[in-house]
Amino acid sequence: MTVDWSSGRYESTAEMLHPAAAVVVGAAGMRAGLRVLDIGTGTGNAAILAAQGGADVIAIEPADRLRAVARERALSAGLEVDVRAGHAADMPVEEASIDVALSVFAVIFAPDPAAAAAEIARVLTPSGRLVMTAWMPVGAFAGVNRVAAQLAREALGAREPSAPFAWHENNAVADLFAPHGFTVESATHPILFTAESPEAAYDMSQDNPVAVSVRAALAAAGRSDQVERIRSEGISQLRQHNEDPAACRVTSHYALHVIGRR
Ligand SMILES: C[S@@+](CC[C@H](N)C(=O)[O-])C[C@H]1O[C@@H](n2cnc3c(N)ncnc32)[C@H](O)[C@@H]1O
Repeated sequence: MTVDWSSGRYESTAEMLHPAAAVVVGAAGMRAGLRVLDIGTGTGNAAILAAQGGADVIAIEPADRLRAVARERALSAGLEVDVRAGHAADMPVEEASIDVALSVFAVIFAPDPAAAAAEIARVLTPSGRLVMTAWMPVGAFAGVNRVAAQLAREALGAREPSAPFAWHENNAVADLFAPHGFTVESATHPILFTAESPEAAYDMSQDNPVAVSVRAALAAAGRSDQVERIRSEGISQLRQHNEDPAACRVTSHYALHVIGRR
């Protein structure tokens, strides 16, 4: 199923993921004049933080609507961010021109990870590095997404996809970037999500483009009857991982990789 990242309202997910962008930008270390590239910027979280840190920032984003949102956010913060159309495997960026590439849960969507790695290696300077995040495949929202994908596949009669590239694993990422002379250092970080209840947490997540695209695919196939079942299984995942019986507090974890030539 193809995700239309311009659909829904990614802005609310971006707010929830802002702490991860701050971790990435902090790990990369900003300073005036640093040439930074934010790959899959979405609404511009990491790009804007990097620009606030004094960096010269280019942001790449394939979705038209999100590029417009990112530009508008940077503009209203009085910051210069050069937002360009492109995707991880094909970026309108000069060779060896980037000191630090950032990617917060975005390069992980590249359909051809090897092509993305080659393109990132092309744009980085010899001492440049990529700082990126990838979800660990465990926890509440990993469960919500897993059951949604599985039930939607069943309803649509779609085949089980081949295993996705293991962007969360140090070894997999190290193998991917090794041909370009890069090594990888990885750490795991938590990110907390809170809501009034598991139901509220689930419903808040449903304007995300991935959830919107699942519902659109079900509607197109005349299987909207599955939406309620997917919701109830998703809420059950959130209940299983809930750390606050009076409301909803769930922790997800992500891998932070620092990838560079050392
Ligand atoms: C989960 S969002 C993350 C957005 C942003 N980095 C943030 O932290 O909020 C995933 C983003 O990856 C973008 N994306 C999808 N496929 C991509 C690709 N092949 N290359 C680069 N970005 C991609 C989407 O358009 C979307 O903006």
